[in-house]
Amino acid sequence: MSHVHIGFIGAGALASAMHYPSVVALEDATIAAICDLNTERLNQTADRYGVTRRYTDYRRMLDEVALDAVYVIMPPVFLKPIVLDCFAAGKHVFMEKPPGVSVAEAQEMADTARAAGRLSMVAFNRRFSRVVVEAKKCIDERGPITQCMVEFHKYHLGTAKWDYYGVGMFETDVIHVVDLLRHFGGEVVAVDACVQTWHSDQENVFNAFVRFESGATGFLTANRASGVRYERFEIHGHGIAAYIRAPETAEVFTDNRTEPVAVFRGAELAGSDKPYRTYGFADESRHFIDCIKTGAQPLTCLDDAIKSRRLVDRILEAGRR
Ligand SMILES: NC(=O)c1ccc[n+]([C@@H]2O[C@H](COP(=O)([O-])OP(=O)(O)OC[C@H]3O[C@@H](n4cnc5c(N)ncnc54)[C@H](O)[C@@H]3O)[C@@H](O)[C@H]2O)c1
Repeated sequence: MSHVHIGFIGAGALASAMHYPSVVALEDATIAAICDLNTERLNQTADRYGVTRRYTDYRRMLDEVALDAVYVIMPPVFLKPIVLDCFAAGKHVFMEKPPGVSVAEAQEMADTARAAGRLSMVAFNRRFSRVVVEAKKCIDERGPITQCMVEFHKYHLGTAKWDYYGVGMFETDVIHVVDLLRHFGGEVVAVDACVQTWHSDQENVFNAFVRFESGATGFLTANRASGVRYERFEIHGHGIAAYIRAPETAEVFTDNRTEPVAVFRGAELAGSDKPYRTYGFADESRHFIDCIKTGAQPLTCLDDAIKSRRLVDRILEAGRR
């Protein structure tokens, strides 16, 4: 297959900001049709990208348009039936995180994809962020990762309770860095955690300590009663460390030298400072299209994403004990 025909279901905020521009920029993919229940959003988005096939009923779109793959971008509560219909129609599916509202939903989607022989990808964009990719490469070149840390704080006080259609803040948002911790550390063998409620009526401070099969250790810290949004990652190896502020910068230090041996800047690497380019959205779509062309399962396919979703539950369980 040299050219991939994509259908979109969902023309909402995140899809419009990140996924449409990412796919439109690909030379070997075309947005062949768009579906949204909201006709204003549908027409605005379709006008912007010159897409003539417009639908409010995704089943009609699947029946009438020759599509190779479908991007289903909407809150997790609506995902499962649509994703299952796409697999049943023989399409590969790209979806945002989290993959459904529970491990059981993610499992059902993964089993259906496998039975249908279709590819799936869950959009864990941090893995594809340019500075993360380059920094991790440096550590991997020196042998195994021995320790990693993911930090993802936000100010979420004095605003409405976090309730994303009934799905919690850890499952929908902190899951980004849960996935990244697994990406750095590998298979998880043990978890300990502390989950707390500070200055709020909902759980908002999450700290976890993870042991990986490789022997490496991982730390996660996410405080949603903190001062401001702050996201930072660390990866340590044999005489080497990377300190990452994705999507902006990463610094790599080695052998007791106080000056970094490498400094990566997201905007330079991506040739743009637009978040869809620096923060991994464009690159995850590139990866998805490449996988469709070669038949390889994407790095963050449903079978892999379930492991991150399970780790979410393990951290919450351990932290509440
Ligand atoms: N990667 C990130 O950093 C990041 C950041 C924010 C949000 N997200 C994820 O993005 C997703 C939300 O995407 P969004 O902001 O574009 O959503 P949104 O809620 O803004 O829009 C969803 C759209 O889907 C449409 N829709 C719902 N059901 C439909 C159906 N059956 N048929 C056709 N259209 C339907 C709605 O009309 C709406 O226009 C969530 O999974 C969220 O977790 C990811």
